[in-house]
Amino acid sequence: MPQTLSKQQLVDVANEFGTPVYVYHAEKIAEQYQNLKTAFATCNAQFFYACKSLTNINILQYIQSIGASLDCVSINEVKLGLMAGFKPANILYTPNCVDFDEILEAKNLKVNINIDNISILEQFGNKFGATYPVCIRLNPHIMAGGNFKISTGHVDSKFGISIHQMRHIERVVKTTGLNVEGIHMHTGSEIKDINVFLEGLEVMFTMAGHFPDLKYIDLGSGFKVPYQPGDPETDITPPGRKSGTGF
Ligand SMILES: Cc1ncc(COP(=O)(O)O)c(C=O)c1O
Repeated sequence: MPQTLSKQQLVDVANEFGTPVYVYHAEKIAEQYQNLKTAFATCNAQFFYACKSLTNINILQYIQSIGASLDCVSINEVKLGLMAGFKPANILYTPNCVDFDEILEAKNLKVNINIDNISILEQFGNKFGATYPVCIRLNPHIMAGGNFKISTGHVDSKFGISIHQMRHIERVVKTTGLNVEGIHMHTGSEIKDINVFLEGLEVMFTMAGHFPDLKYIDLGSGFKVPYQPGDPETDITPPGRKSGTGF
């Protein structure tokens, strides 16, 4: 387990670089990544760091070096990820209500594209058919997250295509020949209640049956992590391995 940075180390950094100064702890990042890998060791899982949380290029390079993939919500995040050394195959672009030109740019950069509305799905399908596989972001209609502003999967959310529009999605896929290789959902961040993830999984497994070419399910939603001593956290340690530190 990595040491936490001591007060003296932080004072030394401040003396050397001046303040304000941001300090990131690489070993802690690696530990958290390892916790995830351990928790899901029995599945064929790949972890995507949501770079919206911090796009410092050095951190992105570090995260790439330890084997993680990258979740980007804007085309500039995609470009930054490529600059940091992520392979296009390890970048997932999940924009929200962007212009079709940005989607085309992402396609030219050969990254994975997650489409979150019917109009773009239709335009993409009409232009490329089955030649460029896509992922579809679904709105599972689950209310979750630390507060309303970081809840993304509820009925009024702008994120994703409603699961109740499945017949419309299927019509677009059928008429354009789109190759849907992934489906994605994100219900919110700072989630303490494990049942939310189970509920989301249930929805996704049901939806998966609509896509015969599906290769993966992309499960978004953020675990609650402690920011202050005493804060609650989501325990992702699998049963039977409970002696660890949790997450
Ligand atoms: C597509 C997507 N990825 C990632 C995130 C980041 O959230 P978290 O890391 O808490 O899951 C969000 C938040 O809205 C999101 O919409």
